[in-house]
Amino acid sequence: MQVFQEINPLKAFLHQKKREGKRVGFVPTMGALHQGHISLINASTEHNDITVCSIYVNPTQFNNPADLKKYPRTLAADKAMLQDAGCQVLFLPDNAVMYPVETKLQLNFGRLEKTMEGKHRPGHFNGVGLVVSKLLHIVEPDVAYFGQKDLQQYLIIRQMVQELFFPTALVCCPIVREPDGLAMSSRNVRLSKAARKKATILYQCLSEAKTLFIEGRASVAQIKKYVGQKLTNQTDLMLEYFEIVDAHNLLPITKTYKTDQVAFCIAAEVGGIRLIDNLFLNEAIHI
Ligand code: PAJ
Repeated sequence: MQVFQEINPLKAFLHQKKREGKRVGFVPTMGALHQGHISLINASTEHNDITVCSIYVNPTQFNNPADLKKYPRTLAADKAMLQDAGCQVLFLPDNAVMYPVETKLQLNFGRLEKTMEGKHRPGHFNGVGLVVSKLLHIVEPDVAYFGQKDLQQYLIIRQMVQELFFPTALVCCPIVREPDGLAMSSRNVRLSKAARKKATILYQCLSEAKTLFIEGRASVAQIKKYVGQKLTNQTDLMLEYFEIVDAHNLLPITKTYKTDQVAFCIAAEVGGIRLIDNLFLNEAIHI
């Protein structure tokens, strides 16, 4: 695996590959890799000649400085996992490479960022949008892979890529979970033993909400109340939101009518660690 820390040598390498007719897939990450990330690498290696992964903990998307400081960094293990998965290129920029000049640009994603993560993490999607634009301009991939785990992030990037004519196709890959249902996340390693056990309740809530929705006897308001009550009675757990939305545009779903589009989305702090998860009513839908 070739490792690049600077933009120009990486570009020169990839331009040469493109001249040779190679197709480039790209997986942007913040490191502390797990099988969720590797599933994106696998999707890329399957459909492209060259897979590029970036590892960069992007400061502009952290609205909480303590979260940025404590973000896990496991570079040696990450490199070994990427190598094993057949990733050919790792881009490892630092802050001076990614933000050489003071950022004045502000991105506004309109209605899409007024809910869920956008509402609870002010400035977060501005930072995501900035860094993903920079990375897409640097790598110029044919395809970029993102996880459904960060559904709102994917929709925001999709809007940006469409509106700004980025010449990159996007693929949204399904959520990879631990055997007990907890969605894999780099932040899971920060959970205490007790919090790790408790964290499974998020997936349980999503699954129960989905069952209630399919049964059609409870209203959307009743399902939300049920989840709210289930989680308020827990110690060391603070629910931030539970939303039932249209998976394509995040507009609230108000009736339990059976449509494929529904996504159940949750965010909570468990033992002080912020976790998010979501579940589609129909897991087979493509977004
Ligand atoms: P990070 O949290 O490292 O995630 C990188 C990619 O892996 C994202 O597209 C995310 O949705 C996906 N991912 C995370 N957990 C997953 C899981 N359990 N199953 C499947 N995919 C999963 O998301 C970011 O980094 C950053 O915001 C980034 C896009 C790199 C911009 O800084």
